[in-house]
Amino acid sequence: MNRNITDIENSNQTERQLYFMEMCKEWAAKQQEKLGRPLTACVNTFGCQMNAHDSEKIIGILEKIGYTMIEDEKADFVIYNTCTVRENANLKVYGRLGYLKKLKSQNPHMMIALCGCMMQETAVVEKIKKSYKFVDIIFGTHNIFKLAELMQARIDSKGMIIDIWKDTAEIVEDLPSERKHKFKAGVNIMYGCNNFCTYCIVPYVRGRERSRNPKDIIREIEALVADGVVEIMLLGQNVNSYGKNLEHPVTFAQLLQEIEKIEGLERIRFMTSHPKDLSDELIAVMRDSKKICNHLHLPVQCGSSRLLKIMNRRYTKEQYLELVDKIKKAVPNISLTTDIIVGFPGETEEDFQETLDVVRKVRYESAYTFIYSKRTGTPAAKMEEQVPEDVIKDRFDRLLKEIQTISAELSGRDTGKVEKVLVEEINSQDPDFVTGRLTNNVLVHFKGSSDLIGKIANVRLAESKGFYYMGELAEEEQ
Ligand code: 5AD
Ligand code: SF4
Repeated sequence: MNRNITDIENSNQTERQLYFMEMCKEWAAKQQEKLGRPLTACVNTFGCQMNAHDSEKIIGILEKIGYTMIEDEKADFVIYNTCTVRENANLKVYGRLGYLKKLKSQNPHMMIALCGCMMQETAVVEKIKKSYKFVDIIFGTHNIFKLAELMQARIDSKGMIIDIWKDTAEIVEDLPSERKHKFKAGVNIMYGCNNFCTYCIVPYVRGRERSRNPKDIIREIEALVADGVVEIMLLGQNVNSYGKNLEHPVTFAQLLQEIEKIEGLERIRFMTSHPKDLSDELIAVMRDSKKICNHLHLPVQCGSSRLLKIMNRRYTKEQYLELVDKIKKAVPNISLTTDIIVGFPGETEEDFQETLDVVRKVRYESAYTFIYSKRTGTPAAKMEEQVPEDVIKDRFDRLLKEIQTISAELSGRDTGKVEKVLVEEINSQDPDFVTGRLTNNVLVHFKGSSDLIGKIANVRLAESKGFYYMGELAEEEQ
């Protein structure tokens, strides 16, 4: 019963937004006539894959309205899709706003919109209202689908339009989206996060976990495949807890099994996995799947059980290592990557040694390493024992060295083998070569032409160059 009501509300919302897109389209057509040239737009994305995927939705709406997308910020409409996971990202946006102000003074038709995680912080919006009055529209992470409606409001008024939702249960389906690649696409399976790791601002800016209905996800992937997509990346802050809050609960492993059945789909990736929710059921599905890629991103954050507890990660070092062992046994050649934070409040040399120990034991293919950044509003920001900058820097360098040594040892281990490569593009250095990826995400360059793009080729990994291979197109299936 409930679901029916939501469905009706959703379809109303979709229609409502398509109506605003039409209105904006008429306005854009008039503008183009007045200016005697096409209207251009530029979307600048900061942050994670989730933001990159949100930007595809923004671009879908802008193209529907009639904008031509360009890379250059000297455009008629510039949108910054911001990130706030670390403070540096915020500073970068403020820095760039100064440049946009100058551009706007040269092009009075220019519109500027800011959206994304940073806009979910009240203090940020206050600062922009006060010091960056030339910004036209501010919206958040929950109402991207409203872009055309907000644009229309801006066209009708003189002032800045601000629309930030604290949270939402709403998931609007079937709006336009413009993919960056013809053959691979991101697909949201859930939004938000309930974990409240004590350093992390995401639960505050992205809201509580909401899973999409499996039917909607399958329908979207089928449509993508019909449109030429062979690889999908399932996106969520915590994909392992997918489906728990649905009216008819479904596990992530069950969802993967359904997706696996889609004919024409060749590769399935997903991120991000939280170790505490990674089930034996999922490991079995990964082991048996023909389509799930040979790669798992499993953020550890830190190796010290004492700090993991304070971080509210809800696993110990030993539990994490046991999980990794189980995964490696089930999927022997799996490539593991991770996220690590250095300098969490109170981190001692002993804690840091535990992190190094995990790195040595797991042997990650690669790792994203972050210096702890204090995010106002999170519990860790109030913790007193902040680690001195020089100590953090020293640990960060030592960690990086360890990771690089292991990556180098692992690289090249598949030399001589024939492996499947999804060809992504013409090589940027040599137009006679193409570049693609192995299922474990490693890059391969080999001689070939543009008709291979979007296809999966059998390639002999002739020579390892460290972090990539030079290959040769092999004969058909062996
Ligand atoms: N400081 C540093 N790194 C952080 N991350 C999240 N919050 C912070 C923070 N306050 C890192 C985590 C997460 C990744 C996306 O960003 O490692 O997995
Ligand atoms: Fe942040 Fe933790 Fe949620 Fe990841 S799981 S988004 S680190 S709170």
